[in-house]
Amino acid sequence: MTLRAVLAGTGSALPRTRVSNAELATRVDTSDEWIVERTGIRFRHIAEPDETTATLGAAAAKEALAAAGLEAADIGLIIVATATPDNTFPASATKVQALLGAPDCIAFDVAAVCSGFLYALSVADSMLRTGAARHALVIGSETFSRILDWEDRATCVLFGDGAGAVVLSAEEVTGDRGILATRLHAEGKYCDMLYVDGGPSTTGTVGHVRMQGREVFRHAVTNLASVLGEVMEEVGLAASDIDWVVPHQANKRIIDATAKKLGLSADRVVLTVDQHANTSAASVPLALDLAVRDGRIKRGDLVVLEAMGGGFTWGAAVLRV
Ligand code: ACO
Repeated sequence: MTLRAVLAGTGSALPRTRVSNAELATRVDTSDEWIVERTGIRFRHIAEPDETTATLGAAAAKEALAAAGLEAADIGLIIVATATPDNTFPASATKVQALLGAPDCIAFDVAAVCSGFLYALSVADSMLRTGAARHALVIGSETFSRILDWEDRATCVLFGDGAGAVVLSAEEVTGDRGILATRLHAEGKYCDMLYVDGGPSTTGTVGHVRMQGREVFRHAVTNLASVLGEVMEEVGLAASDIDWVVPHQANKRIIDATAKKLGLSADRVVLTVDQHANTSAASVPLALDLAVRDGRIKRGDLVVLEAMGGGFTWGAAVLRV
């Protein structure tokens, strides 16, 4: 028997308002054709003033708890991956804890932008396996619309808001169930290729997203293919063993190019970028939840998660559901 972090439930939440490319084109100098051809994005959800990273995160967490058959009081660890917290502090995880009515537990945020969920998952996996908690909520939640420069058409069309959550439970398992491997990377020398031009310790403002799109694209394909290869090698499995890949949903061309590089069949890849755009740390758990709820991902499936984001940071995880 081995103590592993096992996926017990998933959930997600999207803001009420959905915006199509055509609607966006009435406000920004762009077109549905350009956005679809370059990115695969058709819609994104944009948070209303009463919808925040914490409220969306809590809504996703409630669904994940229900799916796991657990109560908020059962949770010993809450990690929120986000680059758009409600406040500079306290951590959005403590706000989620309050919204859920969860009693005293461990709660903190992880900041690794689009790969934040992979970082949070890896931290939760380690903490569960060393006995810090029995059940953990790992949430990716973002309101990127609040840090977009709506005058910059090269970035504002790419992102959306939303949240995804998973419950992980520490269980003694036989065989290869649960999280089998995680791998994380960062290369801070590229921090000016994708960043926000403000912050509490520099400008004292929130700032806006800035990006060198072509460079990000190039690094994303190379780094994602490489980290996927690393985690698969660690568990001793081949691309043909993978049932589902749940990639970060930044751009359909990045997802297609990465899958091709690894010889992964496109019909094994969960795609939501067309419906949600890039929801940063929320994109992987959001896509995971959709594929679990629509019956594609089933108990026993081998699932691979991957993401890359600002920093650069990137990572991957392999789990048996
Ligand atoms: N609508 C219409 N035209 C546009 C738009 C827009 N929204 N944005 C840029 N253009 C124009 C540019 O002005 C440029 O025009 P010009 O040739 O007259 O100067 C032209 O389109 C080409 O611009 P490029 O930036 O070179 O376009 P590219 O083919 O590189 O596509 C894109 C841009 C989609 C951003 C691409 O570089 C990309 O996907 N990069 C990855 C970025 C990404 O996904 N970031 C997300 C966060 S990181 C991550 O999650 C991995």
